[in-house]
Amino acid sequence: MPEIIRIDMDNPLYQKERELRNKVLLRPIGIPDFGWEMNDPMSWHFVAMDKSVLIGCVLLVPIDTKISKGQLIQMAVETNWQGKGIGKLLVQSLIAFAVSKGLKEIEIHSRAEVTSFYEQLGFKVYGDEFEEVGIKHRLLCLKL
Ligand SMILES: CC(C)(COP(=O)(O)OP(=O)(O)OC[C@H]1O[C@@H](n2cnc3c(N)ncnc32)[C@H](O)[C@@H]1OP(=O)(O)O)[C@@H](O)C(=O)NCCC(=O)NCCS
Repeated sequence: MPEIIRIDMDNPLYQKERELRNKVLLRPIGIPDFGWEMNDPMSWHFVAMDKSVLIGCVLLVPIDTKISKGQLIQMAVETNWQGKGIGKLLVQSLIAFAVSKGLKEIEIHSRAEVTSFYEQLGFKVYGDEFEEVGIKHRLLCLKL
């Protein structure tokens, strides 16, 4: 069974995480490789590992100075592993970590077509659809 671990940016797995994000998140919507890394140094990075192979990732970035609120970003699962529960495991690990750090709320700018993935994990939709990086998004929040 794949496991979820938290890594720092000096871990060699970070380079694999960047490759996965390029492939699964950025290229399909026409963003240049490595084009969405501005929050990486401030974020906690979670990766899903199948033995030594990185198959998924998600980041949690604090978005207020008191670190009571975080944003889930850069959620991606390797194409041939999608639909096998890896995304769910990643988000559950991120939530448990956020609770352990005393965060009170997690928000997501979710691509509109995957909103129900997050709703199944307890997030609620707020407000109307909006456009970000050229595609439709929704705001979701989870109170912890
Ligand atoms: C969206 C994504 C992260 C989901 O991860 P996953 O590992 O495929 O999802 P899981 O297998 O853990 O699915 C968990 C549940 O969510 C549902 N789900 C998965 N992908 C979904 C999607 N795209 N839309 C709606 N529901 C979805 C599953 O049916 C499953 O329900 P179940 O427990 O009743 O069977 C993954 O498919 C992915 O990387 N997609 C491309 C990149 C992307 O869109 N990232 C999100 C940016 S906001």
